[in-house]
Amino acid sequence: MQILRNIAEVKDFLILNQGKEIGFVPTMGALHAGHESLIKKSVQDNEVSIVSVFVNPTQFLAGEDLEKYPRDEAHDIEVAKAAGATAIFLPDVSQMYPSDISIKAPSALASILEGATRPGHFDGVCTILAKFFNIIRPMRAYFGKKDTQQLIIVQNLVKSLFFDIEIVPCDIIRAGDGLALSSRNSYLDESELIEACKLYRALVKAKALVSAGTFSSDVIKAEMAKVLNPLKIDYIEICDRELNSINQIQIDKSIILIAAYVGKTRLIDNLWL
Ligand code: PAF
Repeated sequence: MQILRNIAEVKDFLILNQGKEIGFVPTMGALHAGHESLIKKSVQDNEVSIVSVFVNPTQFLAGEDLEKYPRDEAHDIEVAKAAGATAIFLPDVSQMYPSDISIKAPSALASILEGATRPGHFDGVCTILAKFFNIIRPMRAYFGKKDTQQLIIVQNLVKSLFFDIEIVPCDIIRAGDGLALSSRNSYLDESELIEACKLYRALVKAKALVSAGTFSSDVIKAEMAKVLNPLKIDYIEICDRELNSINQIQIDKSIILIAAYVGKTRLIDNLWL
């Protein structure tokens, strides 16, 4: 696996691999089994797979965890290599941000759910991804459904800016107890890890209610809130696949999304159904 530290090295790598199908897996590092599954999917689908590791400052709000976000380059290189990546791109902030030019995420999608408490977050995500897409020019790019709102905004970005890239959604990878894998799980202590499973349990409860014929969003949300108790809930939302709020679940057209605090750590999870 090649280690690329600057844009010139990426360009040289791309010249050597001209004409090949390129898959791209953008990450902020602290790679776990969720990232590993994205990389493996890219390796399966493409001749060349490039993983980026970049903790993107513009998607963190003041007071968020930019400084303490987990960073472990040696580990990330190992995981990417073991998963079969052809190259890993590890740029620094000055290379990715020669100026403060930015892209604005679509406001209707970016101001709800995560965007309601993290204004500007998706502008930062869209800005960095547009830069990576322009540098790497992949044929496919891989995103986890764990960050469903991000996935839908990225699909919108690609369509709106006419990037010729297929966005490949990938299933959430969960620990044995159901907790969705996330780099932020490393902030949780032992007892918080147990509490964190309530997010998944609330989604399982929702699924059971739907299977038993309950489709009302209000009823499902109230039951989910009971499962999440005593966690501080940021939101429980039931939406269609374009993130419009819906009153009734429609099978194969709906998404249930949760954000809740476990101690000081804000976690998200969701279920497509
Ligand atoms: O999901 C992430 O890790 C980040 O938002 C991404 C897509 C790598 C952009 O910085």
